[in-house]
Formats: sequence, C-alpha cells, structure tokens
Amino acid sequence: MDGLRCGSCGASFPMDDPRWRCSCGGLLDIRFTARFDPERIARRKPTMWRYREALPIGNDAAVVSFDEGMTPLVPVDIGPGGMFLKLEQLFPSGSYKDRGASVLVSKARELGIGRIVEDSSGNAGCAIAAYAAKAGIRCEILVPESTSPGKLAQILMYGAELTRVPGSREDTAAAAMAAASTTYYASHSWNPFFFQGTKTFAFEVWEQLGFRAPDTLLLPTGNGTLLIGSFIGFSELAEAGLIDRVPRHVAVQAKRCAPLYEMFRDGLGSPPSVRGGETITEGVAIAAPVRWAEIMEIVRRTGGEVVAADDGEVEEALWLLGRRGIYVEPTSALPVAAYLSTPSLRAGTVVAPLTGHGLKATEKMLKIAKKG
Ligand SMILES: Cc1ncc(COP(=O)(O)O)c(C=O)c1O
Ligand SMILES: [Zn+2]
Repeated sequence: MDGLRCGSCGASFPMDDPRWRCSCGGLLDIRFTARFDPERIARRKPTMWRYREALPIGNDAAVVSFDEGMTPLVPVDIGPGGMFLKLEQLFPSGSYKDRGASVLVSKARELGIGRIVEDSSGNAGCAIAAYAAKAGIRCEILVPESTSPGKLAQILMYGAELTRVPGSREDTAAAAMAAASTTYYASHSWNPFFFQGTKTFAFEVWEQLGFRAPDTLLLPTGNGTLLIGSFIGFSELAEAGLIDRVPRHVAVQAKRCAPLYEMFRDGLGSPPSVRGGETITEGVAIAAPVRWAEIMEIVRRTGGEVVAADDGEVEEALWLLGRRGIYVEPTSALPVAAYLSTPSLRAGTVVAPLTGHGLKATEKMLKIAKKG
C-alpha cells in the first residue's frame, strides 16, 4: 500500500500524515508505485514534472514548479577518457536541490501547511526558500555561520527568515530539529518527499541517454540526497522493466570531512566520528549523515565505491571545467576530481552531476582564481 514507512520499526503511516519521522524516531521512506507512460512523457514539456505519474503528489493544483529540470547532459572530454556531465547548476535557484524542493513544497502545499523550517549548508535552504516563496508558505532557514554569502543573500531575497547558527553543521541541524517541533520540517535529509524529487535526476539521465542507464554514476555525497534519490529513480525504472539493472553508484566525499569514505575504506560497521575540517567543498561537509546506512547499502548493492578528493584535487578539477566553459562551485567538482584520480571509476558510460553554480561561491572561486 502507498504511504510512509519507518525503516527502523516498520510502522506505516498514510501518505498525507504531516510527519517527517516515525514516533520511534526512525527515518521514513515512501512506499509508492511509480508509473511511466513513455508516450505521455514525450508529449509533455521538458521539465522534471513530465514524469508526473511517478511523483507522489495527488493534486495537480498543489504542484509548485518553475518548469525546472531536464538539465542538459553533455559529453565532456576530460583527461583519460570522456564522461557525461549533467548541468544541474542551471536550476532556478542554482543547484539540483530544486528537484527535491519542488516535490517537497508541493507536498506541503497539498497538506495545507502554512509554515516550514529547514536547515542546510546553503543550497537546500536556497531551494526550499525559493519554492516556499512561490507557494506562499512561510519559511525559516537555519544555516551554519560559515555558509557562503551568496547563498545567504539568496535566502534573504526569497523572503525567508534566516538564522545563522554558530558552531558546526551538526549544531545547525540540532537547532532546526528543535524548531521543527512546532512547524513542518522540510528537511532534505529527514523528509522523504525530498528524495521523491531528486529521483527525477535518474529519469532524465535515462531519457537523455536514449532510454538506457549509464554504467557508473559519480555523486558528491554528504547527506546523500542525490545519491539516494538517484537510486530510488533507477530502481523504479528497473521495477517498471525499463532498464535491466541499476547503475553503479559511487559516493564522492570531501577528504577533510569523510565519515563514509573512512567507513568504506576501513571496513567499519558504522561511520567513525570525524571532526569536520575546513574545506572549500562546503556542500558535503557533513560529519554525521543521518541516512548513512541507506547510502552505504546503495553503494554495496550497486557494486559502487566511496571515494574522496582533497581540496587541491578539487581546485584542479575546477580549472579543468573552467577551461571548458563550465563554472561550478567547489563541491560540484568533486566527481570530476574523483574521476581523474581513480582509474577504477572510468569504465563504460560514466555520468556525474554538476550540482551547484559557481556564482554561489564567488569569494572561494576568486581565491582559487588568484592563485592561478
Ligand atoms: C553543490 C552541492 N553539491 C552536492 C551536495 C551534496 O548533497 P548531499 O549532502 O545531500 O549529499 C550539496 C549539498 O548541500 C551541494 O550544495
Ligand atoms: Zn519507527
């Protein structure tokens, strides 16, 4: 039956229950049979909502959309071969998080929710604030004090209430959870509707490759919102008989804050506690990803890996992309850095998203540019 299901205790809840976690504290997932009608899909506008029957929003009038998605998938010749890059930085708020925000805020509107709260390293906050503004939903965004000024300006201009929290990314998450006790938690890591949006990444890649799956996906991973969404999407395509197998999902972390990489490398049963060092890849600097077990299971089941790149490798990847006319924020260059440093990632058709726009991180980019 369709609905919300707890991954810890197995409890089920109706799809319209405005809860973001189980009463046992466990993470919720969505049970929903995605349907695909290739003829109808082909007739619709080139947006992520063309896969309408695969998205768990009942009421068309609730949909909050800027006609986003269907970002270009372009072959790029980099070093030892070629890969496809999906230009996710071209979303309305400048990052792929708009996929999740569009579906999550649509759900909030369908539920009649008037106020939401979200915490973010920046981009998810921008995306939720943008879609909340479009939906006329009041929105509070909490970010760590270190978040790039470009993202802060964006959140403010969308009219959200912005709170900068001193301390680590985890301190911000704790403050948001406290605020969420009285409002709806539009969290990109907890709220399962976010992943129902990020899964459209998989549908688009499938369609853009001529209705086939790639061999390998390289995904920058902190909380894993794109990695998990991609896995859900490709799994739904496989369940519908549209692809033979789910591609290999490779998680790419930032070496200075890499709990999942260390867990994978050292064969540990759970993520080690890491002290997140400063990194230019602020988007994935997550010391304690709540869905770590799900991420590791996806990597294992698809025959993937967890790899990590350091800031120096990311800077090189940024230069390489820049010289090909592509300007993205540092976090987004992680998959390219991993591709260049790790030969085992290069077999077959390789796809990576470019997750966030370079204009979001002007200060960081300028420092790199000046170094030459
Ligand atoms: C530009 C960019 N890329 C990748 C990510 C990684 O997303 P996640 O933490 O959900 O794995 C983020 C997260 O904020 C981001 O901002
Ligand atoms: Zn439970």
